[in-house]
Amino acid sequence: DPCNMVLKPGLEGVPVTQSAICDINGLKGELKYRGYSIAELAAKSSFLETTYLLIWGDLPSSKQLREFEDAIQMHRRLSFRVRDMMKCFPATGHPMDALQSSAASLGLFYSRRAIDNPQYIYDAVVRLIAKIPTMVAAFQLIRKGQDPIQPRDDLPYSANFLYMLTEREPDPLAARVFDRCLILHAEHSLNASTFSARVTASTLTDPYAVVASAVGTLAGPLHGGANEDVIAMLEEIGAPENARNYLKQAIDQKSKIMGFGHREYKVKDPRATLLQGFAEDLFARFGKDEMYDVARSVEEEASPLLGPRGIYPNVDFYSGLVYRKLGIPRDLFTPIFAISRVAGWLAHWREQLSANRIFRPTQIYTGKKTRAWCALEERN
Ligand code: SDX
Repeated sequence: DPCNMVLKPGLEGVPVTQSAICDINGLKGELKYRGYSIAELAAKSSFLETTYLLIWGDLPSSKQLREFEDAIQMHRRLSFRVRDMMKCFPATGHPMDALQSSAASLGLFYSRRAIDNPQYIYDAVVRLIAKIPTMVAAFQLIRKGQDPIQPRDDLPYSANFLYMLTEREPDPLAARVFDRCLILHAEHSLNASTFSARVTASTLTDPYAVVASAVGTLAGPLHGGANEDVIAMLEEIGAPENARNYLKQAIDQKSKIMGFGHREYKVKDPRATLLQGFAEDLFARFGKDEMYDVARSVEEEASPLLGPRGIYPNVDFYSGLVYRKLGIPRDLFTPIFAISRVAGWLAHWREQLSANRIFRPTQIYTGKKTRAWCALEERN
């Protein structure tokens, strides 16, 4: 009966699936992938090992990991057709839009009718994990008027991405910190982009469409796009002593503090704590970023103002400071989030297919009932 339906805006608290991938305790600030704490994964694992864990449920054996890494290394190159297509993109376009289009284009090259075949799933996972970083790096060089450079087979996943992006072999600490950032962003239960991915997956379409729809969803400022806006906000604040006034004014005007707040966490996001540590590791080695003091001041001043309402820094608050220290341009922060989150999206794709039913929720209709047609000449 429609009269008894209760609307939950944003589906807050509404379970839409069962999942064995990721466990969040929003009151304690704990996050686990497949039962392993992210702090332990960030300390001991690699992004590709964590990706394997997320998608297939258990840590790989050394043979399984080597095969997975080798397959990804073999599929990192882009077809010249994809590169040529990307050269036609406007250089002024946002890299997330370039990524969404490029990811979707993979569907043109690979068959879409074998999603019940485990080998097809493995191959699609390998291609997407391998090619998404190459696409992000390629667009960066193309928009500067250069040809993309080829991946280097002697470099592991994260070092190779930084190499393709900056055309320089990265410092080992920089590459390791970057890999750890990818681990932290890889999965986060039913966030908006993952929900998008699952809805798309539920129609049994191809995995490239699944990932492209998720990239489009991640791009918005309420989701992955916030990491870019945080740096803009810190620069606008300019100095630690301005943080208090900025926050008070923003709160009075009911505008959102970027990188703060979370549907699930009512305490500081555990990923923000780890990312803050990574930023400090980089500053100790490569010199401090003056925006870090501004960020710390924002966090400190926000605590009495927003803390009582459960609003604390989220994953996007400190990640931009890490990427900035690695010399990465601001509008690539969200594409980097996508490079990592593709692991989570694919884990959910696979899980969705294992017990699929098409997503088709309902609505509470609030429009007009039956209306009488009015001829064009009689309308004013
Ligand atoms: C990510 O879901 C995930 O898991 C996402 C993510 C992942 O890994 O996939 O963690 C990645 O997307 C991180 C979030 C990045 N977005 C931002 O940093 C943008 C700023 N944050 C907010 O817009 C907000 O906190 C959200 C979008 C993150 C959560 O939105 P909700 O749960 O719908 O909360 P809401 O907007 O309804 O806010 C509830 C209250 C409101 O006040 P009242 O109207 O009740 O008085 O809290 C206030 C809000 O105004 N509030 C904030 C705030 N966040 C919430 N006030 C000021 N600044 C903020 N950032």
